[in-house]
Amino acid sequence: MTNKISSSNPNSAKNEYPPTIHFDILTLFPEMFAGVFDATIIGRARQAGQVEIVLRNIRDYAPGKHRVTDDTPYGGGGGMIMKPEPIFNAVEAILGITVPDEGYRPLLEQGYPPIILLTPQGRLLKQAVARELAAYTRLILICGRYEGVDERVREHLVTHEISIGDYVLSGGEIAAMVVVDVLTRLIPGVLGDAEATTKDSHSAGLLEHPHYTRPAEYRNYSVPDILVSGHHAKVREWQRRQSLARTLARRPDLLPSAELSETDRKYLTSLGYEAATE
Ligand code: 6GU
Repeated sequence: MTNKISSSNPNSAKNEYPPTIHFDILTLFPEMFAGVFDATIIGRARQAGQVEIVLRNIRDYAPGKHRVTDDTPYGGGGGMIMKPEPIFNAVEAILGITVPDEGYRPLLEQGYPPIILLTPQGRLLKQAVARELAAYTRLILICGRYEGVDERVREHLVTHEISIGDYVLSGGEIAAMVVVDVLTRLIPGVLGDAEATTKDSHSAGLLEHPHYTRPAEYRNYSVPDILVSGHHAKVREWQRRQSLARTLARRPDLLPSAELSETDRKYLTSLGYEAATE
């Protein structure tokens, strides 16, 4: 974090060892998150205080006796639109601020947390995007529902829009779970050494090599000889080549940004890969 961030802003309070990310998740369906956030790596990281997740029911911030969170669209067309007031109210209550007339975005530059809208119209979540977001110590996630969110939320409150892929989910909740999972794994110390090793090969931008475990023979299907040979250097070479060949066959789009050695390039060339020249 840069020293532009003053000690009086809410984002620096968490700037301590061990590293943490605090998520506030604004949703109409907080009950959707329980299993995912209580189990395995996220559950363990929460227990250890490496990640904090607070679920906020948008309905709790809706004005009026009936706490209405959605309404029909101006101009017609059907479907329901999430109203702006409950969402602005929720952010203001969570951060203890009033969003200025100029909108929230200037506050991001002052060190206030990003406000991320989960929407199929957002920037595609890639590992590199996750690494950018994981640099923040606090993030506010807004889960859209229905046909969408009133445009004034995007224009004056939201700082980032994220999509998890080119398909349409019923709402942003599952996408928010994905964001929390991906970012939590990037917090130093969350993954044990064994888990971190597998993460490395993804960060290097290649698909993983195949994995096998005992028994060495199963229904006449055998584990490749090289893996049971005990030749560590040869095993590594085989795994690297599998990784390269798989990436070439399945995701050649990943190769231009992958970290490749001269040996890797020669092997790929032998498989017919022609690296683009600058
Ligand atoms: Cl973030 N939300 C919705 N509703 N659908 C999606 C998505 C998000 N990402 C991909 N599809």
